[in-house]
Amino acid sequence: MRLSSLAQVLLASTTFALDESLGSTLNVTVLGASHNRSTLECWALKSGWETSAEPGTSGSSVLDLGAITGNATFTTLPAGFDGGRHNAPALQWVVFLSGLAHITLPNSTTEARVEGGKNGAILALDTADVSALGHYTTYPSQERTVALEIPLPKGEVPGHRVLHTGPCRGEELLV
Ligand SMILES: *[C@@H]1O[C@H](CO)[C@@H](O)[C@H](O)[C@H]1NC(C)=O
Ligand SMILES: *[C@@H]1O[C@H](CO)[C@@H](O)[C@H](O)[C@H]1NC(C)=O
Ligand SMILES: *[C@@H]1O[C@H](CO)[C@@H](O)[C@H](O)[C@H]1NC(C)=O
Ligand SMILES: *[C@@H]1O[C@H](CO)[C@@H](O)[C@H](O)[C@H]1NC(C)=O
Repeated sequence: MRLSSLAQVLLASTTFALDESLGSTLNVTVLGASHNRSTLECWALKSGWETSAEPGTSGSSVLDLGAITGNATFTTLPAGFDGGRHNAPALQWVVFLSGLAHITLPNSTTEARVEGGKNGAILALDTADVSALGHYTTYPSQERTVALEIPLPKGEVPGHRVLHTGPCRGEELLV
């Protein structure tokens, strides 16, 4: 190993090994279902932070999101758009990049406000076979909401621990 690359490895492992500001787990808001109704929960993903050995991110903190499948979609919603009541079309990640999604549940006061950005990833799992009424989504910001929809393989939900009902709260999210 050349001295310069040895130095890089040492630098990577000493400077970036532990980023405590990332918290112990990645927590995500989940639109799930129980007893044929959509639910909102906060999940701590089981896969933990690891130190990347990949060129380009080597030494930084990464976390395995598990398998995905099928066709991903880049979705744009105009400011003020009303998505109405609907079910998740498939088990999927919805990663909000900009704007604001306001999710409410029929016959419930539980709601979630998901801002686009680093805490914008949610899991939408309330497909029609498990939730009769689905959920409502509106996009009440002044800007366009942009999201990536990334389907999961059938039945393959990332390993997790349920932290509580209701969406993840500020102190549970990335700073
Ligand atoms: C996620 O929640 C757990 C349990 O409350 C907490 O220990 C962890 O630090 C949180 N993660 C972030 C990024 O805040
Ligand atoms: C992905 O899109 C292509 C082209 O529209 C389509 O033929 C294919 O069936 C889609 N795959 C899935 C898994 O939906
Ligand atoms: C529950 O929500 C559905 C859909 O919004 C509505 O049609 C129904 O009247 C509600 N039921 C009650 C008891 O509020
Ligand atoms: C969920 O509710 C719908 C409408 O009431 C009903 O048709 C369906 O059979 C129910 N599904 C389950 C799994 O209970």
